[in-house]
Formats: sequence, structure tokens, C-alpha cells
Amino acid sequence: MKGIVLAGGSGTRLHPVTRAVSKQLLPVYDKPMIYYPISVLMLAGITDILVISTPVDLPAFQRLLGDGSELGVRFSYAEQQAPNGLAEAFLIGAEHVGDDTAALVLGDNIFHGQNFSTILAHERARLEAEKGCVLFGYPVRDPGRYGVGEADEAGRLLSIEEKPERPRSNRAITGLYFYDNDVLDIARGLTPSARGELEITDVNRAYVARGNARLLDLGRGFAWLDTGTHESLIEASQYVQVLEHRQGVRFACLEEIALVKGWISPEQALALGERQASSGYGAYVVDVATRALSTSS
Ligand code: DAU
Repeated sequence: MKGIVLAGGSGTRLHPVTRAVSKQLLPVYDKPMIYYPISVLMLAGITDILVISTPVDLPAFQRLLGDGSELGVRFSYAEQQAPNGLAEAFLIGAEHVGDDTAALVLGDNIFHGQNFSTILAHERARLEAEKGCVLFGYPVRDPGRYGVGEADEAGRLLSIEEKPERPRSNRAITGLYFYDNDVLDIARGLTPSARGELEITDVNRAYVARGNARLLDLGRGFAWLDTGTHESLIEASQYVQVLEHRQGVRFACLEEIALVKGWISPEQALALGERQASSGYGAYVVDVATRALSTSS
């Protein structure tokens, strides 16, 4: 499965904060926002990840993430000339996906919850066996702000609407999508919506029409955090800070995930931590690597 992180857009709702910096590079407590969606792909076992952003912002993502080799993964980069819609990711990323399955995650979506790795691995395996698509739903107070899905008891998606005035359920469709290879053809066949965008909801509707779209409910025990406004951005930082401080672990720590997945050695993780050891984040990487070194020796 190939991964795509879509991290473009104009970020106007956060102006002036995002006038000179991409939204997805803003800090969410101790790390840039894009670490969180990248961690989701890595937790799903995906090592080949395309980062899409605006021509102006893309170099900053490259500076931050490099080619991924230090983490035992591969990051590549592509420009989106204008915010023409989420589904454009599959036109820009067609070559990257090739004849594989694909996971798309929005660069401003933050997920946190127990057993997420297991859930992702399970859904990925099921998608690869059964084809179709898997969407991840989350109960929200204000579903009309999102894509909204309605599923039967078996989790088969029956309908999906984008920002409906009268939502049929409280189930928001989050910004994480697993697709079989047909997504490339479906995206190629789309026409822009009334607001001039290639809509991801239209891609999902095509799968609903084929009867092979599934909706997996993440449920209330999970956190799916919003970063769209100044308030929600600081709340996301507070959430991460409170949990990390209380538990003494950091989440979305890319070096730790790479280590746990066996993509880098404890020695390599230690070197990555030492390079940034003057920050709390870097000191944590050093700690994790040191513990791994002592158990491996
Ligand atoms: O976050 C989940 C929601 O994301 C879904 O529930 C909706 O179905 C989906 O349409 C999307 O809704 P948003 O209103 O949040 O989409 P927005 O236009 O704000 O774009 C989401 C992110 O993707 C944002 O960080 C900007 C980036 N983006 C957006 C567009 C339209 C791009 O990188 N390129 C684009 O062309």
C-alpha cells in the first residue's frame, strides 16, 4: 500500500498565522502538525509516502522530512498548483500509487487511540483481500461541517454527503481513506463540484454505488482532533501536552515508530535523538533508543 499526505490548501481560516507558514507545519505542542498524519501511515506499515503541498510550501516539507532514509522509509514530494480538491491527490499521485492500493491522509488530521496500529493493519489487510474502500467514521456534535456517512450494521456504507444541511447521522468521515487501485480511474473520471473542486466525497460515492465501501467506526474512545481554527489548534496542543505529560510517552514520534517497526536499529534511533537532544522531543527519542539498546544487548 502506498501513502499520500495531502498538505496543501491556503489555510485562510488561520490567517495571519498561516500567511508565511503552511498550516501543516504549525506546531501541535511538540512537533509539526504533519508528523501526526505521517505517523498514521507509518503505523499502518506504509513506508512509501508522497507528500503533496503547494509549490511555495513544498520545500519546507522537504527540509523537515528529507528523503525518509533516516527513518527507513521513503518520502517523495509533489506540487499541487492550486487547491483543486482532495481527490486531485490521486491525479497528482497516480504514478506514485502505480498498481498498488493507496491510503490518503489529510495533513491536518490528528488521530489518537488505543490499538490504532492493530486496527489499521487489520483494515489494510482486509482492503487488500476484499478490494473497495475503507473510510473511518467518528461521532461528532456538528456533523454538518464534514463529510457524513450512513452505514448498515455490517459497516457497509449506504450513503455519504459532503457538509449536509440535514445530516443523516452524527458520523463524520475523517480525513483518512484506504482505497483499492480503482481509485485512480475513479479520480480521473471526476468533474469539479459546484465549488470548483474534485471532491473526495464523489470518489467515495462511486464506491458506495459499487456496494464496496466500508465505514469503520473509530468510536468515542478515540480522539480525532480538529486543527481548523485558532481555538481548535490550541486545544489539540493541550490534548497532546496533557496526555504526553501524564503518561510519559510521546505520540506521533516518527523515530520511535520506525524503531518499533524494525525499520531502523536502536543505534540509528539514538543518533537521530542525539541530534535534537536539546529539545524534550529529542531527549525522548534518546530515552527510547537507549532502552531498546539495553534490551537488545
Ligand atoms: O477533515 C475531514 C474532512 O475533510 C472530511 O470530513 C470532508 O469530507 C472532506 O471534504 C474534508 O473537509 P474539509 O472542509 O476539512 O476540507 P478542506 O477543504 O478544509 O481541506 C482539508 C485539508 O486538505 C486542508 O488542510 C487543506 C488541504 N487541501 C484542501 C484542498 C481542497 C489541500 O491540500 N488541497 C486541496 O485541494
